[in-house]
Amino acid sequence: MITLTKLPFAENVIEPFLSAETIQCHYGKHHTGYVNKLNELIKGTEFDKMSLAAIIRGADGPIFNNAAQIFNHSFYWSCLGENSSAPEGKLLEKIDNDFGSLEALKEEFIKMGTTLFGSGWVWLVREPKGELMIKQTSNAHTPLSSNLIPIFVCDVWEHAYYIDYRNARPDYLKEFWEHINWELASQIYAKTDTELLIGVEPCSDIHDLFCQLLDEIQAGDRVTS
Ligand SMILES: [Fe+2]
Repeated sequence: MITLTKLPFAENVIEPFLSAETIQCHYGKHHTGYVNKLNELIKGTEFDKMSLAAIIRGADGPIFNNAAQIFNHSFYWSCLGENSSAPEGKLLEKIDNDFGSLEALKEEFIKMGTTLFGSGWVWLVREPKGELMIKQTSNAHTPLSSNLIPIFVCDVWEHAYYIDYRNARPDYLKEFWEHINWELASQIYAKTDTELLIGVEPCSDIHDLFCQLLDEIQAGDRVTS
């Protein structure tokens, strides 16, 4: 059985970036709905006892869609900070190296989020050789299907912003940028900056380790749905 990750903050503390109404709808209905639906779909199947990462790797169709959406949403909530922060240390050095500056990364990230057609996600990821890149994924697709390690993600499905921003996705993305949990991003970057994770194949090894890492970082935050 797959459990619903606990929201890492109270539903009204990141207002006005996201209202309590958005959180209640997005987390309480959409994210929770994916968990309930997946558990219904995998009951009595080969996926019943698998980890979420294993289901994402092994499934397609509705089981993949619901499983990937669960991971993507759990990670998205973790990527949001109550207060603004900033990258530092090795992550900041790497951003400067790969994008020129933090401001250049911001500009490119918002552009990629704005231009993604339809529903999906925009990610900062590191590819197997260690380079940082911005990646768009449509619908439920996730870097866990490839050998990319997520650093942070923004949900650009309309359900993520329509209550608060109507159709102004760029405004939502600009506010998202002010609420990135850079502490988590820096931890992921530091802990995956090892020979153990960079350049290792197959990708399943990376993502089992990545999911373990997230579990360690978020220890104690899981509750049963
Ligand atoms: Fe969403």
